[in-house]
This record gives sequence, C-alpha cells and structure tokens, in this order.
Amino acid sequence: MAGPALTPPGAAWWRGGAIYQVYPRSFADGNGDGIGDLPGAADRLEHVARLGADAVWLAPINPSGGVDGGYDVTDYLDVDPVYGGLPGFERFRDRAHELGLGVILDWVPNHTSDRHPWFVEARASRDSARRDWYVFADGRGDGPPNNWSSRFAGPAWVPDEATGQWYLASFYPQQPDLNWSNPEVRAAMADTLRVWVDRGVDGFRIDVVHRLAKDPLLRDNREAAADPPAGYGRNPGWYTTLHLRDENGPEVHGYLREMRAAVGPGTLLLGEVWILDLREVVRYLSPGELDLAFNFPFALSPWNPGPMAEVIELTEELFGAGWPAWHLSNHDMARAGTRFGPRTVRAAAVLLLTLRGTPVLYMGEEIGMLDGVVPPERALDPVGRDGSRTPMQWDASPNAGFAPPGAEPWLPVAAGYRDRNVAEQEGDPDSVLALYRRLLDARRRHPALSTGTFRMLEAPAGTLAYERAGPGERFVVALNFTEDRREVPLAAGTVEVASSVSLEGRELEGVVALPPHGAVVVRGGH
Ligand code: GLC
Ligand code: CA
Repeated sequence: MAGPALTPPGAAWWRGGAIYQVYPRSFADGNGDGIGDLPGAADRLEHVARLGADAVWLAPINPSGGVDGGYDVTDYLDVDPVYGGLPGFERFRDRAHELGLGVILDWVPNHTSDRHPWFVEARASRDSARRDWYVFADGRGDGPPNNWSSRFAGPAWVPDEATGQWYLASFYPQQPDLNWSNPEVRAAMADTLRVWVDRGVDGFRIDVVHRLAKDPLLRDNREAAADPPAGYGRNPGWYTTLHLRDENGPEVHGYLREMRAAVGPGTLLLGEVWILDLREVVRYLSPGELDLAFNFPFALSPWNPGPMAEVIELTEELFGAGWPAWHLSNHDMARAGTRFGPRTVRAAAVLLLTLRGTPVLYMGEEIGMLDGVVPPERALDPVGRDGSRTPMQWDASPNAGFAPPGAEPWLPVAAGYRDRNVAEQEGDPDSVLALYRRLLDARRRHPALSTGTFRMLEAPAGTLAYERAGPGERFVVALNFTEDRREVPLAAGTVEVASSVSLEGRELEGVVALPPHGAVVVRGGH
C-alpha cells in the first residue's frame, strides 16, 4: 500500500497546475501484447514530468466488459489484468508521486457493465434484492417506457426479455444506468471512492456526472429541433429532445456533496459535466461539490476568434471567483489539430495554456498529434472515436515506440508518426513540444499566467488578445487565427513565449506583428 502521496503540494494545487490525460490503452505497451498498460506508462512518466504537467488523469483502468473503452466497468475496486492489475497501478502511482505528479482516476458512476455482478443479480428477477439498483420499468404499449434517447444510438431503453421489463442504458445497451436515487447505490459507490483514496490517488475525473439525477417519474423529454453540436455519437433522437428529464436533476448536487464527504476536501473532483449551458455547469462547483468541471462549449467552439472570445468571456463572467478548466482534445472527439488544421496547433497551445483556469491536455497534444485514420476493418468504436485513440507517437521506430517492434498495436499507429513524434521534437528547440514546455514553464515562473486575473482586450479582426495580471506582473497574449500576417497594437513589452522561438526575447514598441497562425505572450504589454 502507498505511503502518503508527495503530491498534492498543498490545498488547491490544481489551481495553478496542468493536467495531462493518458488513455492507458494507447500510451505505452510495456509487455508487448499491443495494448498500453500501467507498467509501460510508468516508464514514460518522465516525459509528462519534463513537460511540466502536475497530474495525470488515467481513463478507466478497471476491469470492463470491453464495449466502451473501459467505461463499462465490471469491478470498481480492481484493475484490469491487461493494464497490469493492482501491482501495475501501484507501480504507476509510486512513479508518478516520485516525479511529483498527482494521479487522477476516471470514476464511472452513472452506469456499470451489464456483466457487473450487481447487474447480473438485478436482472435475474423482478424480486431481486438489487433490482432497484438499476432503472427497470414497464414499457408503454409495445414500446419503451418513455422517449429518452441513448447518447449513442436508438432509445435509451433495452428490453429485458426474461423479466418482461426494460432497463435504462444512456450509452451503449451493455451499460445499464445505476439508480442513484437508491441510497444503497450511493453508499456502495462512495465506498469505491474511499478505497481508491486509501490507495493513494489524488483525484477523480467523474464520468458524465450530470446524468446521475433523472426524473423519478420517468416523464418524457420535450421534443425540440436542435442542431447537433460537433462531437461524437450523433444519434438524431438525442439532439431532437431537450434533456430536461434524463439529466441534471436537482438531486445531483446532493449526490456531489456525498461524494465530497467520501473523499474529503483534499481530493480533486473534476467532473465531466457534459452540459452546453455554462450557467448550469457552474452550479456543479458550489461549495462542497466539484473542484473543476470541463468546459464543453469551449472545447466544441470553432477555431475562430469571435465564438472563442464569446465562450471565454461568458466563462469568466459566470465562474467569477470560481475556477474554470479548459480542454481542446480528449478521447471522445477528433483532436484539435485535426479539427482546426495542423497549422493551428501552436496558437491553440498558447490559448489553452494562458487562460485563467486549469488546462487539461490530451496525450500527444504536446507534439501536435493528429487523428489516425483507422481503416474500417480495424475500427473498434461503433460511434467513431478511434481516430483520437491511436497510439502515442514516441519515436520513429516501427510501432512508434508505443509497443515493441513486432507487436501488433490494438489500433494502428497513425500515418506520419515518423515525422511527428516525441524523440524527433526532443532535439528541436522550435518544436511544438518545446513550445508546450516553455508555456508550462512560464506558467510556473509567473503566477500571473496561471492564477492571475483575466481581461479580454480589443483586437483587430482575425485575432484575439487578452491580459493576464498578478502581483507586480502583466502579460498580454495575442493570437492570430488567420493565414495572413496580422498586427496587434499593444504597449511596449518583451516577448516571453511565442509560437516560434525566434520571436522570443524581442522588445516590442506599440505593436506586435503576428505571423500566420502565430501567437505571443508579451511581458509588460498594454
Ligand atoms: C464519457 C466518456 C466516454 C464514454 C461515456 C460513457 O463521455 O468520456 O468515453 O463513452 O462517458 O461512459
Ligand atoms: Ca501491454
């Protein structure tokens, strides 16, 4: 069992910090079976520490039914043998703590696998003692109990032939929703949190936490025409109803306070609050609830200064003294470099790492990784998220250093890895990797850039400019979203960090000339 964690280095360490997301299956394969694992990941953690991140969030490592990339858990207390089991986890945790990195686990409370013993017992009969741990209901006529849609495909209800009822499954049918209105469920899930806190984890990323509270009367969602936002799982039914009954019920805030009570004040709770109305999201950060919540309106914004400025300003206005979190990529969406184009990755790095809040990076983002093209015969995720899950690109060797040469990676390594990998960029002071390191380093050296205040500035068309200020320090960040050179007026200052290293150290007087897709962090400024 672990000794005390070396991190977190004090309360609210995550405020000035940066989180690095590892998708364990795709990060590093230590034993050559083609699947990433925790001993392999432990051996690569030095990269994360050198990058300047403060904590690692691991996508689920529990044993699972294998239907949803680990998000269909069969045992919350164990670690999948494919990832090295509990000893693999301990090795990873100890290495992370040795390097001063916090460990954040993915916790999936909304649903289990249909192979979880709780569900097996629940579905066995209508009188099962665990029947009410899930959401079983009678159909309406021949159809499902109501009009709720699955996030992925079809209705959110699965007929259970043996007992003649339907069960609720908000994602894949093999992921039955737990019934959080049942106190026994909440107590059992809180116990799982306590076990992992005792095992030395520093935080949890809580999967689809806004889905925990649903209408107890199972009333219909209201129909509404809606434009699907970018993202995965374009199940038409999911977008043509307003989600007033199947998520974000008022009870969720009580559930959050119970989670907080289970983990104590020092454990980071980062919620996947997949709600596009930030007014609702911010409520999840009330005292005694979450520390951080992902900002999906920001992550889904087009690469365009107008909408970006709008969502950033709205976040600033709503979060007030609270603390935002920012991400542009993860395992569920196409990578930012793919969505916005490879030429934007440097400016995107500058943006992500200079906003007021905690940035969450997705493995590979620091080398400007792009989505792999997975041929149909190798496709694994039915809703099309394989592209952002292809293996991490460490070097130019066969299998990109992800797995030993000769192993067959579970998803193919993306084409182009020979030119875009960690080893290649390691030696290049003007690489994307070097830029991420300089940005994270600047955040550490200048609290104005991490915990300082934020103010949007007037900026010419096609650009974005804002100020970050802290005790005795002021920075202006200017970003060019266009293919052309752009001039942004600002007061005298020195370029602290720039998208091209050659711009750094320059003294500016009254204006900065940004190259196409260029970005600068100017000390002094305005
Ligand atoms: C979250 C996860 C996603 C998963 C879903 C269901 O959105 O990030 O990967 O499929 O929840 O658990
Ligand atoms: Ca392996």
